[in-house]
Amino acid sequence: MSSGRDVAISIRNFVKRFGDIVAVRGLNLDIYDREIFGLLGPNGSGKSTTMLTIATVYRPTEGDIYVYGKSVSRESDEVRKYVGIAFQEPKAMWIDKPIEILTWHARVIGYSMSDARRVVREVMEMLDLWEQRNKMFSELSGGTRKKVEVAKVLIQRPRVAIFDEPTAQLDVIAKHIVWKAIKELSREGSTVIVATNEMYEAEALSERIGIIYKGELKGLGTPAELKDKIPGGDIIEIHIEGSLDPLTKQMLAEKLGAYKIDHNNGLIRIYVDKGEEKITPAIEMLSNKVKIKMISMKEPSLDDVFMFFTGARLGE
Ligand SMILES: Nc1ncnc2c1ncn2[C@@H]1O[C@H](COP(=O)(O)OP(=O)(O)O)[C@@H](O)[C@H]1O
Ligand SMILES: [Mg+2]
Repeated sequence: MSSGRDVAISIRNFVKRFGDIVAVRGLNLDIYDREIFGLLGPNGSGKSTTMLTIATVYRPTEGDIYVYGKSVSRESDEVRKYVGIAFQEPKAMWIDKPIEILTWHARVIGYSMSDARRVVREVMEMLDLWEQRNKMFSELSGGTRKKVEVAKVLIQRPRVAIFDEPTAQLDVIAKHIVWKAIKELSREGSTVIVATNEMYEAEALSERIGIIYKGELKGLGTPAELKDKIPGGDIIEIHIEGSLDPLTKQMLAEKLGAYKIDHNNGLIRIYVDKGEEKITPAIEMLSNKVKIKMISMKEPSLDDVFMFFTGARLGE
């Protein structure tokens, strides 16, 4: 199935090992020109490893990644010209001030002194950082340090902009400010990749989302496409006391025509069509087997998508 869109980044059979640890296990993924792509997964999934390899900080153990046709393994100098990255853990000098860090950064990229001053001020005002420009980096909160890191990429306007958990530690208002700035960057022509472990952020920001878990891609598509991949339109959730025996689970599945039933930690999730007609029979079947604490029905959210594809919860 061809999307007809130009590919900016092509990840091919990418494996990254650190000694015995396999951080990424054979990733294949195309990221389109000028899209905002969300890489969604809990901590330890391989998001940073993948992004750092696109940015040529790491080299692939196996496979390769092409950025506008250039190989990160063989043409890393070329790739580096395209890419800007806001690291998950900003590493600035603690005694520096944000305005100095960013002006220096703008000069290194090639802005004249007067352009550097102008662009730095624009970006700092956009991110609501201007008031803090003369504080020491060490005095800034984790979230504000992250904004300084994000500002570097916004100043650079690279063809490929990578943001590794850009809004971790920011409050809701600050998150929206950063999202707006990232969307603006995309509108002006950058291809954007954002790593996040927050469903809400992935959905707010991304055109397409890749669900990555334990170094493997588990799902790929727009938020709507991912939700559509959950079989049946509805999920019945039943909180119970005690546990569900396999035979009851099987009978339940047959009686309700369920596509899938998950059960862990006292929560049964039943994927069905026409959920509203299935609640009563579900209660009838279960009520003499287990104690039902709560029952509800919902349409799939991206959280459910994540659980469906990985069997895990994002927070775990
Ligand atoms: N430099 C490194 N040395 C050894 N192990 C690493 C290194 N970087 C990452 N890992 C391991 O690789 C796995 C994936 O990590 P990472 O890419 O940071 O995931 P994420 O960004 O999704 O949290 C984890 O098990 C992590 O401990
Ligand atoms: Mg990470």
